[in-house]
Amino acid sequence: MLPERALAFPVTLRPLEPRDAPRVQLLAGERAVAETTALIPHPYPDGAADAWIAGQAREQAAGREYTYAITSSDDGVLVGAIGMRPVATEHGHLGFWIGRPYWGHGYATAAARGVIALAFGLLDIDALAASHLQRNPASGRVMEKCGMHLLGMEKRDHRGAQEEFCVRGITRDDWEHLIAMNAA
Ligand SMILES: CC(C)(COP(=O)(O)OP(=O)(O)OC[C@H]1O[C@@H](n2cnc3c(N)ncnc32)[C@H](O)[C@@H]1OP(=O)(O)O)[C@@H](O)C(=O)NCCC(=O)NCCS
Repeated sequence: MLPERALAFPVTLRPLEPRDAPRVQLLAGERAVAETTALIPHPYPDGAADAWIAGQAREQAAGREYTYAITSSDDGVLVGAIGMRPVATEHGHLGFWIGRPYWGHGYATAAARGVIALAFGLLDIDALAASHLQRNPASGRVMEKCGMHLLGMEKRDHRGAQEEFCVRGITRDDWEHLIAMNAA
């Protein structure tokens, strides 16, 4: 099991709560955020955020998926969300988004590093994978900054069209090496 909360300055990871639904709908409902993700609906229907948040508690209790609200460590404002699945789907183990007004502050990188540290620290996992659209270099850069190497390219369906994806991954050994280098 992963903990409910984690500090990953400049963000704090905490469970999503029902009161987050309007803000999730507002931020994730923006086309620029939804369009490069596999699963965020667009337009974002009323009630979808409530249902998504309610479902997370069940997924987490079963150990199938850990989803965290990404909040600013400064003021606690929710800026995005990140999910980690111990058993990868075709999209990999990790998925994340940050609300458009908060892009470029290092929030996704901090959150992803935090979740990767939790996964390797607390779960019996030897490697993590994730993928992003080739035309989404910001997501690729986040993964790269987390030590996720490019493993290959693959074409698959994205919202009804065939698109090119970059598949990235990091092994436990790579991660431990990265941490040791950063500590030196
Ligand atoms: C991808 C996303 C999560 C990045 O969030 P973020 O908090 O802005 O990311 P960070 O600030 O931690 O890092 C972004 C990096 O990408 C770089 N970047 C941004 N736009 C870029 C572009 N067009 N080309 C290359 N690099 C780019 C930034 O310069 C930064 O790298 P740097 O620190 O080396 O300068 C955010 O843009 C988002 O939510 N997009 C929509 C949802 C999505 O695509 N999710 C990922 C699905 S795989």
